[in-house]
Amino acid sequence: MGILIKNGRVITANDDYEADIYCEDEQITTIGPNLDAPAGTEVIDASGKYVFPGFIDPHVHIHLPFMGTFAKDTHSTASIAALYGGTTTYIEMVCPNRTEDTLEGYKLWKGMAEGKSACDYTFHMAVSKFDDKTAEQLREIVADGIASFKVFLAYKGFFGVEDDELFATLKLAKELGVITTAHCENAELVARLCDQLLSEGKTGPEWHEPSRPIQVEAEGTGHFASFLEMTGAAGYVVHLSCEAALMEAVDAKLRGVELYIESVIPHFCFDKTFAERPNFEGAKWVMSPPLREKSNQKALWDGLKMGLIDTVATDHCPFDLEQKDLGRDAFTAIPNGIPAIGDRVNMLYTYGVSRGALSLQRFVESASTKAAEIFGLTQKGRIAVGADADLVVFDPSYRGVVTMKDHHVNNDYSGFEGFEQDGKATHVTVRGQVAIRDGVFVGDTTRGQLIRRKPTY
Ligand code: URP
Ligand code: ZN
Ligand code: ZN
Repeated sequence: MGILIKNGRVITANDDYEADIYCEDEQITTIGPNLDAPAGTEVIDASGKYVFPGFIDPHVHIHLPFMGTFAKDTHSTASIAALYGGTTTYIEMVCPNRTEDTLEGYKLWKGMAEGKSACDYTFHMAVSKFDDKTAEQLREIVADGIASFKVFLAYKGFFGVEDDELFATLKLAKELGVITTAHCENAELVARLCDQLLSEGKTGPEWHEPSRPIQVEAEGTGHFASFLEMTGAAGYVVHLSCEAALMEAVDAKLRGVELYIESVIPHFCFDKTFAERPNFEGAKWVMSPPLREKSNQKALWDGLKMGLIDTVATDHCPFDLEQKDLGRDAFTAIPNGIPAIGDRVNMLYTYGVSRGALSLQRFVESASTKAAEIFGLTQKGRIAVGADADLVVFDPSYRGVVTMKDHHVNNDYSGFEGFEQDGKATHVTVRGQVAIRDGVFVGDTTRGQLIRRKPTY
């Protein structure tokens, strides 16, 4: 059965026009004025609404064994939450730790997602060590359609790589034509600062930020950029949180390093005072890199408007309050992460477009199109004949407040609780099937496909 979206205002990364969109057999087949609906077509009236390409979240954690526990979501819960928030494709980090086998890790993550997601997905493959088997295993994983790596310069001894391993990973990435994403914090500095703070009796969540200050992230970012420059590989900084790191990344871009920049919605919406809330409540907002001084948010919004920041992701990583409690005696044991997969588009629209100065085009580009371009999702992020029919009908007149009651993530708190929200998705399609109808999930948690990608760098 076809779908006809009528009377909407179509917004893409470079266009804004009124048209009807007809979709059949998973793809957009016609775009134009006053299209007729063949018999049996589902007609969605988008009068007064925007029609966006399905949004892409290029950085999420769903299955994640980390800090002695596991992130809470399943692929079903995370994908349903994503769809409610207009996200139709996500890229999950496959994160085996240093003691685990890379290829086994890939198979584990792939198996966990298969047949369990309501929307499409792909993976970044984390390289957490580089031993004699790694190159061959990574070649096999890239041949299976995973065209991006991930390295952690933080989390020493667990996910973190040493410099020789970083160099070897980037050399291989260059040879294979894949891009490498990186968590950029200097692991040694974090370790030393954590020890120092704990020895001074500074144990609460408010000390998480001082244990990894902006200099730690700026050093990590510059460090990664230098390795890219020496190897000629393409790179992508994940969850960049502050002006100092942004300056390092922009400096590298100006030197000709092929480097893309991602920031995540928590860093746009929360400053470090959230993690300083008393009675351990701040633990809800402990993530790495940490929430920063408020002044950094202006740098992020300005950088996004100017196109210095390429994408806005979530770094979705839900740990519930019982799990956060693991760090009651020492902030270093608080599982790092904030759930956000369902909130990203709404918060970016509210505080960027509706109440800020972000254009609709930059909004779509940074939350969808650019991620598709950077990561080779050739069928996604566009509204064009032949593209996948992943579409979001969005009502800009909606006014509400974020509350856990409306949440679909497998967690017991929302960091965005009480935030005002302008606009929301009323209908969302995944490859030509309605997954959200009139704001209610009607999709299928077995429908999501692994999107295989080709190396393009
Ligand atoms: O605090 C965070 N960011 N948790 C998830 C793991 C990571 O570093 O991305
Ligand atoms: Zn990270
Ligand atoms: Zn992450």
